[in-house]
Amino acid sequence: MKNDSKGRVTKDGIRIFEEADFSGMHAAGALAARILDDIAPLVQPGTTTGHIDAAITKLVDEAGATSATIGYKGYQHASCISVNHVVCHGIPGDKRLKEGDILNVDVTVIVDGWYGDTSRMYVAGKLSRKAERLIQITHDALFEGINAVKPGNTFGDIGHAIQSFVEANRMSVVRDFCGHGLGRVFHAPPNVLHYGRSGTGAVLEPGMFFTIEPMVNLGRPETKILADDWTAVTRDKSLSAQFEHSIGVTETGCQIFTLSPGGKFHPTWG
Ligand code: MF3
Ligand code: CO
Ligand code: CO
Repeated sequence: MKNDSKGRVTKDGIRIFEEADFSGMHAAGALAARILDDIAPLVQPGTTTGHIDAAITKLVDEAGATSATIGYKGYQHASCISVNHVVCHGIPGDKRLKEGDILNVDVTVIVDGWYGDTSRMYVAGKLSRKAERLIQITHDALFEGINAVKPGNTFGDIGHAIQSFVEANRMSVVRDFCGHGLGRVFHAPPNVLHYGRSGTGAVLEPGMFFTIEPMVNLGRPETKILADDWTAVTRDKSLSAQFEHSIGVTETGCQIFTLSPGGKFHPTWG
């Protein structure tokens, strides 16, 4: 039988992409990241999260791209916006941001069939000392994970790098949500856990595409889902942060598809 789909799938169900596929992921990732750059000035006390989401919808549209989240399992927005103790999947709406609120904005776009998925933290107004520390540790935890990505290492090495760093800083890693493979689909194997043991899990190979998107809480790691069936919050109401990049494994390490074109990935930059 003829099989048109290129590449192969590992015994763990992880697709191995070809070198030519990296450019499609770079295009999609760059658009998602540019949109997150462009909405930064809107994040101010008094703005609603619905207004930020509407701006994102417009930017996706103007780029001739497609939102991956609108219509995904019934979700109706171009972003998830998760404020303060919301861990992830916050639904944009009429709530106005207050001075000192911290928020994660998560955007996934489809460009020529390729998915670009990234999220980062913002602050409305001035960053408090404790929120700044949470955001810094969460950002650095993502890069501890990214630095563990190279052929021969395992997914457990990524999780271990993130968890040990976060816990050494007396914060906690959320267990209830994970990163994921992606490419020409939104969510594919493997589940990329942000905790774990070195040397466990599937072995990384060049051509694997996935996200790393640790959620870190100031308090305990447990979450619960609100009655809207989407919004995940910390059970103890402690502050939560998240950063997400989409990456591809290379012969020597990895490429990040969702780098900020404006160098604005962190709220205190740009
Ligand atoms: N972008 C999220 C992720 O990182 C998924 C959002 S799905 C939605 O995987 F439906 F909530 F938008
Ligand atoms: Co993701
Ligand atoms: Co995302």
